[in-house]
Amino acid sequence: MLPMNSSAPVSADATLDPARLAEAFRLFNQVSEELSAAYGALEKQVERLTAELAAANAETQRLREQAERNARLAAMGEMAAQLAHQLRTPLAAALLYAGNLETPGLSEASRIAIAGKTVERLKHLERLIQDMLLFARGEVLGRETFGIADLIGELAHTFEPLAHSRGVALTVNAPPPELTLTGNRKALAGALTNLLENALHAVAGRPDGKIAVAVEAGDERITFTVTDNGRGMPPEVVARLFEPFFTTRADGTGLGLAIARGVARAHGGGIEVDSAPGQGSTFRLAVGRGPSDAADEMEQNR
Ligand SMILES: Nc1ncnc2c1ncn2[C@@H]1O[C@H](COP(=O)(O)OP(=O)(O)OP(=O)(O)O)[C@@H](O)[C@H]1O
Ligand SMILES: [Mg+2]
Repeated sequence: MLPMNSSAPVSADATLDPARLAEAFRLFNQVSEELSAAYGALEKQVERLTAELAAANAETQRLREQAERNARLAAMGEMAAQLAHQLRTPLAAALLYAGNLETPGLSEASRIAIAGKTVERLKHLERLIQDMLLFARGEVLGRETFGIADLIGELAHTFEPLAHSRGVALTVNAPPPELTLTGNRKALAGALTNLLENALHAVAGRPDGKIAVAVEAGDERITFTVTDNGRGMPPEVVARLFEPFFTTRADGTGLGLAIARGVARAHGGGIEVDSAPGQGSTFRLAVGRGPSDAADEMEQNR
């Protein structure tokens, strides 16, 4: 509020008439009081609006979190449904076979054959559960240093007879014997086994089926390549390759590549694919060589 004795002139006339001057000051003070009251009210309104905005933001955040939770639940529900479906088929088959064992007058030979099929389906079920756990954990435990040539030799040993019996030419480009890697040998062997199994399926029925395995060692990475001249894949299949449970095979689980990619990533690498329908496919599984080589050498030189 301005003091009444302010020396600021209001107008030439007002300075001449003290009564008008007083009235002008009174009016001025009244207006400033009103203004100050209006400012106070405005301030309160801003406070209220700020609080409302904060509440709206909190609500938006809550809704976003709820939407994310719902999406996660939906994905889990879908996964659970797929899991149930995957487990139900071998379980139903095993139950059916086990039920057949009760048939009266069953010959010894039939009993042994049916029991064998039951056990085979139950083993399939067990493998499925192990694969799912491997995928769900998403981690690869255990590390050791092993020779790559040894690992590739073992795979060739397993797949050579299979390929041969199906008229498929398997060529293996063996790496130098001193090349080693530190990681989980069993998990890597499993991932490469799946690439080879997939390649064998892809060339099935071709008279000139070819599969080639190669190893390339860079400074930081080791890359395993599995190439086939099989049926290849259209882009829409390539796009879904690594989705768990994505399969185009009646007896596939669709977990093979999902696990293989998990294994590659757990080793600091990944998987790349080149494929086109009718052109065959190339899968490159890379793993990091990691800092462990030097550490292991130090360990050995002690
Ligand atoms: N080399 C390949 N050539 C053509 N299609 C392939 C090849 N590798 C994978 N695929 C396609 O990708 C799908 C997914 O492969 P993935 O290994 O994950 O599962 P799967 O082989 O179907 O079942 P499994 O869990 O028994 O391995 C296959 O069903 C197949 O359609
Ligand atoms: Mg597979």
